Amino acid sequence: MNKRENFGSRLALILAMAGSAIGLGNIWRFPYLVGQNGGAAFIIVYLVSCFVLVLPIFMAESIIGRRTRLSTFGAMKKLAPGTPWKWLGLLTVITPLLILGYYSVVGGWSIDYLWKACTLRFTHDTAGLFPGFISSTWEPLIAFTLFIVATAVIILLGVKNGIEKFTKFCMPTLFVLIVAIVIFGLTLPGSSEGVRYLVKPDFSKIDAGVVAAAMGQAFFSMSLGMGTILTYASYAPENENILTSGVGTAFADLGFALLAGFAVMPAVFSAGIQPGEGPGLVFDTLPYIFSQMPTWIGAIVSIVFFLTILMAALTSSISVLEVGVAYLVEEKGMGRVKSTVIITLLGWILGIFCSLSFGPLANAKLFGLTIFDCMDKLCSDWLLPFGGLMFTLFVGWYMSKADVRDEFTNNGTVNVGIFNVVYFLMRYVAPLGILVVFITNLVL
Ligand code: TRP
Repeated sequence: MNKRENFGSRLALILAMAGSAIGLGNIWRFPYLVGQNGGAAFIIVYLVSCFVLVLPIFMAESIIGRRTRLSTFGAMKKLAPGTPWKWLGLLTVITPLLILGYYSVVGGWSIDYLWKACTLRFTHDTAGLFPGFISSTWEPLIAFTLFIVATAVIILLGVKNGIEKFTKFCMPTLFVLIVAIVIFGLTLPGSSEGVRYLVKPDFSKIDAGVVAAAMGQAFFSMSLGMGTILTYASYAPENENILTSGVGTAFADLGFALLAGFAVMPAVFSAGIQPGEGPGLVFDTLPYIFSQMPTWIGAIVSIVFFLTILMAALTSSISVLEVGVAYLVEEKGMGRVKSTVIITLLGWILGIFCSLSFGPLANAKLFGLTIFDCMDKLCSDWLLPFGGLMFTLFVGWYMSKADVRDEFTNNGTVNVGIFNVVYFLMRYVAPLGILVVFITNLVL
C-alpha cells in the first residue's frame, strides 16, 4: 500500500475493501454472537443496523478519505485546521492496537487448526479438542505470534502484489467452500433445529445488550470506526462511485456472514453443542462437520477451508495494522519499518494477555469479563461506534453540504437523486441511533 498511490482500478479498490471487511468477523465472530444473542432476532437487528446506522458511516469515511487523500489525522487537520477534530486521529492508533492484539489470537487459532487439518486431526472424534487447545499455554501463544509476525511481514513487504492477487483467488474459494459446508451441514441429523433457530425470530430476546452487540458487530465486520475505510478510500480512483463501493462491500460482507451462520448453526444443533458457548463456537463446530464427512473429503475440505480462513484473516489484519502504521509514518515522521515494529510489538504484548485469558488467566476478570472478552467488547461495542459517530458528525455537521454533495455525487454526475436520503441518514439517523444505543446500553 504505497502512500498516495491510487488503486489501479475499481475492482482493486472493491477487493481491498472487501478483503478488509470479510474476515474472522464474518466466519468466527458473527456465528458466535448469533448464538449468544438469541438467533434470528439478533440477525434482524444486525441487518437493520448494517443499513441504517453503519452504511452511512461507510459513506462518511469514504467522503473524508477521498476528499483529502490523507489518512484520518491528516484529513482532520486539512478539513478542520486548528480544531480539536484532529484528536479523532488518536482513535486510529489506539483502536487498531487493541484489535490487532485479540484478532491475532484468533488468527493464531486458525493457523493451529490449519496445522491440525494437515495432520489429519479432524478425521476422527473431535469432541473436547478446542477447549483443550485454548486452555493450554504455549500452543495458542506460538500460533498467535506466528500470525502477528505474518501480518507485520506482509505490511513490510507491501501488499499490492502478494495479497491483492491472492485475495482474488481466495475469496471465491472461500465462498464455494462455505456453500459446500452449508449444504453438507444441512444433511446432518437434527440440523433442521439449527435452521429454525436462524430464521424464526423470538423478539422477546432483544434487549439493550443485544442491540449494542448487533451494532458493534456491524461496525467490526465492515471495518468501520477507526479509519480503515477512510484510508482505503483515500487511494480510490477519482471517478469511483462511493455509494456503489459501499453497498457492494456491505452485501459481500453480509452474504459471507449469513452463509457462515448457516454453515455453523445447523451443525451446532446436530452435534449438541451449546449455541451460546462464545468465541470457541466455530472452532468447536467446523471440525465436527469435517469429521462427519467421508475421510478423504473431510481431510481435503478442512485443509483448504482453514487455509482460506487464514488468508481472509490476514487480508483483514493487515488493514488493521496499516492504519496504525500510517499514523506513525505520516504524523510522527517515523520510518515504515520502525512504525510496524512498534505497533506489532505493542499488539503482541496485549495479545499475550488475551491468549492466556482462556487458560492460565481465565480467572482474571474485568467487569465480569475475561481479558479477551473485555477487549473485544470495548472495541466493538464502544470504540468503533464512537469513532463512527464522530465521522458522521464531522461529515453531517462540520463539512459544508456542498462539499459533501460534490464528493458523494462525483461533482453532480452520479447518485444525485439518492444524495438527500443518504445525507439525512448521515446527519440525523446514524448519529442519533448510535447515541441511543450507547445510552440505553449504559443505563440498562
Ligand atoms: N472486518 C474485519 C473482519 O470482519 C476485521 C477488521 C479489519 C476490522 N479492519 C478493521 C475491524 C477495522 C474493525 C475496524 O474480520
